[in-house]
Amino acid sequence: MQINVANRLPRTADNACQLLFLFADGRLKGAARKIDKDSDGQLKALYDSGDFKGGKAETLLLHALPGTAASRVLLVGLGERREFGASAWRASSKAACKALLATPATLLVSDCLSAVADDTLSAASMAEQLATDLVSSAYVFTLHPRRDAPSAAALEECVLSIDKTQLETVTTAVQRGVSTGKGMQLTRDLGNLAPNICTPSYLAVQAETLAAEHESLTATIVDEDEMESLGMGAFLAVSRGSKQPGKLIVMEHKGRKRAGKPIVFIGKGVTFDTGGISIKPSDSMDEMKYDMCGAASVFGVMHAVASLQLPLNVIGIVAAAENMPDGDAARPGDVVTSLSGQSIEILNTDAEGRLVLCDALTYAERFDPDTVIDMATLTGACIIALGHVASAVLGNDQKTISALIDAGEQSGDRCWSLPLWDDYQPQLDSNFADMANIGGRPAGTITAACFLSRFATQFNWAHLDIAGTAWTSGKDKGATGRPVPLLMNYLFNRLD
Ligand code: BES
Ligand code: MN
Ligand code: ZN
Repeated sequence: MQINVANRLPRTADNACQLLFLFADGRLKGAARKIDKDSDGQLKALYDSGDFKGGKAETLLLHALPGTAASRVLLVGLGERREFGASAWRASSKAACKALLATPATLLVSDCLSAVADDTLSAASMAEQLATDLVSSAYVFTLHPRRDAPSAAALEECVLSIDKTQLETVTTAVQRGVSTGKGMQLTRDLGNLAPNICTPSYLAVQAETLAAEHESLTATIVDEDEMESLGMGAFLAVSRGSKQPGKLIVMEHKGRKRAGKPIVFIGKGVTFDTGGISIKPSDSMDEMKYDMCGAASVFGVMHAVASLQLPLNVIGIVAAAENMPDGDAARPGDVVTSLSGQSIEILNTDAEGRLVLCDALTYAERFDPDTVIDMATLTGACIIALGHVASAVLGNDQKTISALIDAGEQSGDRCWSLPLWDDYQPQLDSNFADMANIGGRPAGTITAACFLSRFATQFNWAHLDIAGTAWTSGKDKGATGRPVPLLMNYLFNRLD
């Protein structure tokens, strides 16, 4: 799908859909006013009859209206004008995309942005959101062979018109939105892939492919032999129970010269989590293929960063391993030595994410990072705390935490902080090693972050627990692409 920004709508619009965003007050501006005039007041009549109220995220599809070259017009409500803001726009933008993609239209035209933009929300931020939604709503998973393959959306092209003065800023915003949407697609593809296909080695090949596609990107794979000689005993304790060798995957995007110290993203890439010897119950165990969604979000972000050629140095590290029970698997009670030199008593082999992540965090020190952010489907407790609405954020640097909360608010891909007070640290005390890998049932998300914090002492660091947000269960089972919008907005804000 191609999204173009122009300073006027195309004159001909075969098989098109024109998008009109309208407030509940029924005041018609721009293209809406023209269509209403040319159609002898059909839009006003819809308000009067109550068929369209302009409510937030309300949609109505009309055909063959005079006053437009498009064969369809999609009315999308924005709700009350005084309540309008980023969140109403998001709801309406998503509803618009859903209704639009259900039609056979191949072209979308709209001049909605200038008609709607005001002080609270710029045309650029609306365009960014709409572009992300257009791309990500069109997502279909097609990577597994099946006879009843879902068909791709008909939509091929979108033209958003905006006045000349804003052409440049809106074009940049659309590029950002499209790249975010494409990043989400990659993240969802990797998350949705079956765990027999999406192994640590598969992810390593993905990194090499991505690096081959983008001039600015390089990929380095650290294999188990090298991890062994480096002393990554925590990571190796997880992968040793699997026939699939673990991989530490490093992707580096070089922005322009003097782009500064790197921002490092680390993703938990447990391609399947059985729990190991502390084995999980079988119900819904298939969903543990999503235990690499942190890693998948690193891929999504690196893809977007490289496509946009962001003038930042960004490094993505993926800690990829499979957690299986086996004759050679780690046992509860095993003591291992991490890359940092700290020893760990593994009391539960199902708390494996922190074991692969702690060595990845120590590994990140070699890049002298400005900031390190890790993403992980780390604890079931996070779903209990925040449900499927917000990711949890914890860390050692309040600035980074606040920046992530803000970026989440902007993108609608929200996170909320939990305290990382020292008071929780004693829950990790071990009789036999520097620490245990679990802290008991109370505050499970916090003690998991406490564990990680002991390996994040050399840099500003934040941790996102995405267990509740990275995928959806039930009928619409699948990866969501979160937290790619959050992370991309974090990066955009660092640039602006
Ligand atoms: N991958 C899981 C966390 C998880 C569970 C994510 C359910 C999404 C849904 C993680 O490896 C795990 O098993 N964590 C344990 C930790 C416990 C043993 C301290 C958990 O949350 O139960
Ligand atoms: Mn686990
Ligand atoms: Zn796990």
